[in-house]
Amino acid sequence: MPQILNIVYGSETGTAEDVATTIAFEGRLRNIQCKVASFEDFDMQLLKNKRQIVVFIISTSGQGEMPMAMRINWKKLLRKSLATNELENIDFAIFGLGDSSYQKYNFAAKKLYRRLLALGAKQILEPGYGDDQHELGIEGTLDNWKLKLWDELGISLGIDSSKMAPILPPRYKLDFDDLPNEADECKQKAPYTKVKVISNLRMTAGTHFQDTRLLKIDSNNHPELYYEPGDVLMVYAENTPESIEIAIEALNYDNDLLDKEFVPRKNSNLYEDLPSWFLGNRMTLRNCLTKYFDLQAIPKKGLCYRMAMYTSNQDHKERLLEFAGAAGLDEYIDYAIRPRRTVAELLRDFKESASSLDPAILFDLFSPIRPRAFSIASAPAVHKQFIEILVAKVQYKVIKMKTPRLGLCSTFISRLKEGDEIFVKIRKGTFSFPDHNTPCIMIGPGTGVAPFRSLLHQRSLTHKKEDLLFFGCRGPEFDDYFNKEYLGMEKTQVVCCYSRAPNIQKMYVQDGIRLFKKIVHDLFFNQNGYIFVAGSAGQMPKDVLEALKIVSQHINDKDDRFWEKMENQRRLQYETWS
Ligand SMILES: Cc1cc2nc3c(=O)[nH]c(=O)nc-3n(C[C@H](O)[C@H](O)[C@H](O)COP(=O)(O)OP(=O)(O)OC[C@H]3O[C@@H](n4cnc5c(N)ncnc54)[C@H](O)[C@@H]3O)c2cc1C
Ligand SMILES: Cc1cc2nc3c(=O)[nH]c(=O)nc-3n(C[C@H](O)[C@H](O)[C@H](O)COP(=O)(O)O)c2cc1C
Repeated sequence: MPQILNIVYGSETGTAEDVATTIAFEGRLRNIQCKVASFEDFDMQLLKNKRQIVVFIISTSGQGEMPMAMRINWKKLLRKSLATNELENIDFAIFGLGDSSYQKYNFAAKKLYRRLLALGAKQILEPGYGDDQHELGIEGTLDNWKLKLWDELGISLGIDSSKMAPILPPRYKLDFDDLPNEADECKQKAPYTKVKVISNLRMTAGTHFQDTRLLKIDSNNHPELYYEPGDVLMVYAENTPESIEIAIEALNYDNDLLDKEFVPRKNSNLYEDLPSWFLGNRMTLRNCLTKYFDLQAIPKKGLCYRMAMYTSNQDHKERLLEFAGAAGLDEYIDYAIRPRRTVAELLRDFKESASSLDPAILFDLFSPIRPRAFSIASAPAVHKQFIEILVAKVQYKVIKMKTPRLGLCSTFISRLKEGDEIFVKIRKGTFSFPDHNTPCIMIGPGTGVAPFRSLLHQRSLTHKKEDLLFFGCRGPEFDDYFNKEYLGMEKTQVVCCYSRAPNIQKMYVQDGIRLFKKIVHDLFFNQNGYIFVAGSAGQMPKDVLEALKIVSQHINDKDDRFWEKMENQRRLQYETWS
């Protein structure tokens, strides 16, 4: 039997899984049998027993941490009892996914890399690191790394890796005939909970451009939705009706086909099961186009390549291959990245190719929708039986496109109505808050205030130490979330920094820190307080750090590493997102 290439991913929000699936697809093109598995599901025993080639795709989460779903197997790999030749049968390659705006850039992949070497595994090529900050995102470095990977794997497996199949059969066959009984229980365990929307309140003025929602969901009778301040709610979204319509028109499937029930049958045991826990035992294409295929993502190069493979339109093939190849990088950036074009729009632009796609191919073409994270804004001890999140709708215009670009999940949430049902789950947040005897200095502009609203409500039930919140927004008339709620809270000071309020001095959170530096100094240095920063990952955390340096001016910090040390001691913590 030919050797199987194991592709093992560690992922928090699915990007690493997408990369692993793409590599498996490219492996199949080269006639290499590939098995994709999550780090957690991967049988570590396999690593010991026989010669294996493993490609690891590992993203970093938290503050330089392993993704949550990797941590059990990672701990096993750290056992002191493991011998230095424990993994001598393993040849491996590793690609990390990270974001260089984080202090601990790609730490998870780097840690795994070092550990694998320490246990005797042999690398077949240098590790690669993808960076969200690159203009092309992780694809900026991934493409080159993959080319080297195929060269090296060709040597290891004794095959000519430049020889590729012109076309691949789909991984799943859609069986429209042999359907399970409708009453049959779904065999898969649902990792998410279906909950009802209680309310969805607009928190910004109707005249204000930004639409921010306070979404309240019913968590009563759902012990699995237990959470603490600082935790995060993961939400599954559906595509917008606009994107679904564009895609259906391009695919040119009629209603009969769209609503005809089927069961997907895997063409090989190497392929993963589709998530019937939320698509149902009997699936329909309409359901998949609504809930499963990510139609609003920016088309990746891999998608262009796969579309090219399945089209018989020569012009389309050439253009799509140009986007997918290294030589057409500028064209790809102009077509996909700059205008933030969506997958649905690509289908529309290549309609003749899209309309000839066999439905089974769609499962090889598109990435699944990934859940998004939202800091929980409610407090478990106060807001019992429900959970609240504060969600800013992402909507912006780009020059080349007529219609505004819409964020997938925030738009979905902004349109939810009372009684609607959504899939959610709790994820541990990166913040770890100290007990109520330790003061907290919280810096949360915009929706960054969400975890602090949770903490302040929770701590309002205790005889706590002084807390100080710096909240930033445009002005009291526009987006001054929760301001009145803090009024009655003992030992809680809130500094509202308004940036666009008429007749009020313009101020951002970093200006607030400078203005109240004595109080910040006292809470942090004299009372051993903790500092937390949440919100946009752009310029804000850097500006906040500069302001904190003014607070710590009295310290002899020759190497300019004081706040880095504080971060390592977790007295300064960030939870930021882009
Ligand atoms: C731990 C954590 C906690 C979070 N908490 C919250 C929270 O409490 N509230 C909240 O609202 N969000 C929060 N987020 C962000 C949230 O998860 C989503 O990323 C956000 O809602 C956008 O998702 P989306 O699906 O609507 O947009 P997507 O479809 O994912 O699109 C977002 C992408 O659009 C691009 N983009 C956005 N604006 C522009 C622009 N003006 N120009 C060009 N490109 C742009 C960016 O590349 C961005 O990554 C949190 C994220 C994390 C990781
Ligand atoms: C909450 C959060 C924390 C992150 N922490 C880090 C980090 O410490 N270091 C890093 O290099 N990248 C960090 N990243 C970036 C992710 O690793 C990167 O976006 C990756 O592509 C996500 O992959 P995934 O979808 O497979 O989880 C973080 C991203 C988020 C949303």
